[in-house]
Amino acid sequence: MNILFLASEAFPLIKTGGLADVAGALPRALIKRGHSLRLVLPAYQSVLARLRSDDKAPPLSSRGQIDLDGTPVKLWQTRLPGTRVTVWLVDIPAFSEREGNPYVTPEGVDWPDNDQRFYTLCRAATELAMGRAGIKWKADLVHANDWQGGMVCQLLAREASAPATVFTIHNLAYHGLFDYQTMHRLGLEPWLWQPDFLEFYGQLSFIKAGLVFAQRLTTVSPSYAQEIQTPELGCGLDGLLRARQEVLSGIINGIDTREWNPNRDACLAASYDRRRLARKADNKKALCAELGLADKPDTLLLGFIGRLVEQKGLDLLLATLPELLARGDVQIALLGSGVKAYEQAFAALATDYPEQLSVTLGYNETLAHRIEAGVDVFLMPSLFEPCGLNQMYSLRYGTLPLVHAVGGLKDTVIDGDDPLTANGFCFEPATVDALRVALKRALALYQDPEAWQQRQRNAMSGDYSWDRSAAEYERIYELALEDKKQNA
Ligand code: ADP
Ligand code: GLC
Repeated sequence: MNILFLASEAFPLIKTGGLADVAGALPRALIKRGHSLRLVLPAYQSVLARLRSDDKAPPLSSRGQIDLDGTPVKLWQTRLPGTRVTVWLVDIPAFSEREGNPYVTPEGVDWPDNDQRFYTLCRAATELAMGRAGIKWKADLVHANDWQGGMVCQLLAREASAPATVFTIHNLAYHGLFDYQTMHRLGLEPWLWQPDFLEFYGQLSFIKAGLVFAQRLTTVSPSYAQEIQTPELGCGLDGLLRARQEVLSGIINGIDTREWNPNRDACLAASYDRRRLARKADNKKALCAELGLADKPDTLLLGFIGRLVEQKGLDLLLATLPELLARGDVQIALLGSGVKAYEQAFAALATDYPEQLSVTLGYNETLAHRIEAGVDVFLMPSLFEPCGLNQMYSLRYGTLPLVHAVGGLKDTVIDGDDPLTANGFCFEPATVDALRVALKRALALYQDPEAWQQRQRNAMSGDYSWDRSAAEYERIYELALEDKKQNA
């Protein structure tokens, strides 16, 4: 099948979160299954600059122009580094002539022209999918992701003999909302301004374009697929999702097992696997030295990596960690960036406990790998978590995840008394007390090295590869094609 995969980020070219990991790995798994796939991304300035300046980067070549109602848009072709995945970079000046984060200004507010930038991207993707850009390749199916890709589903719904569309929700909390003027600015047809279509409480919603018009909807774990149909986690869209529940499925993400392999990870002080678990301790030692933490091999070392936003349960951590630090029970390595108030709160706590708590603000891939390998327990107290990738990296690295039992965390982390299955620690509800109890259980189990190692081995034996999930996506693609045929 010819698949056009549309995303706003893909590792290793550009990444702000888990979507990049998915868009960097799922296309490769689909190609392995024999599909012809084109990964379509905006031609961000940083991406073009890196491809042009790095001798080892895959070649960048011109694929001509896409005509958007008289405005030409340049198209570049390259490969996703380290893979055979063909990437088409759409050279819209609002992406290619702008430095910085894909979505927000250096001050952390949305770029004011996000509506036009991502709508133009979707228009270009529509032309490519329809085979109208002077390239002999037409999509059978378009797989769009998150609000940035939503409008392609609406644009294709207007076309005769268009490819089928699948829309994946990576995070329902981000809607891509714009004011009414955007309807005019983009020249959208007035009938779309209705609650049944793109209107959402007086605003224009790009995510609704995907949710309403795609043949099939997916999200990134079975539990989250259920949760988003409830008022609690439905972000105001639960009614729409319940109405489309027949075409909504949850497919758990895989992880890139080449990128995340403790036995072949160039970032680590010592490589290890299930049979050489003792060497994990060398990574703990090296991490503590690197971060200026006291060298205490027998103290439980906790880790956290992620966007510092409310979703990630940081208020629970801020309410629980001080007492553990005061008692000297744990050490902590935290890496992240995001909301300034969280950054400041953790930085302030670190000044009180310099040898026990290390806070690194910013984005750092290498350190992320070292934390995954070096810590004993990885914290993910997320209030909601569509899938979550870090807990799977942790499992593969023999680092036991301690998670709020929600969304993809619930679907991947197993707690309980069965020594043959448990691979981490879960708590619910999302309260300070429940988190405290789980941390106590982790501290107690840590005193029993044999039981701990059994849990580590269980964690490391799981299959977190993309192969299984890619097969599930393939099935959804087939269903989308059938739906499309029936409605033609
Ligand atoms: P989300 O997409 O909600 O941010 P995920 O767990 O799905 O959460 O994915 C986050 C990804 O981003 C992981 O690969 C994680 O390691 C990475 N990441 C997040 N923050 C940082 C950071 N500060 N430095 C390095 N990697 C980070
Ligand atoms: C989102 C979610 C995260 C998920 C990622 C990739 O950013 O917050 O849970 O793992 O997308 O699907």
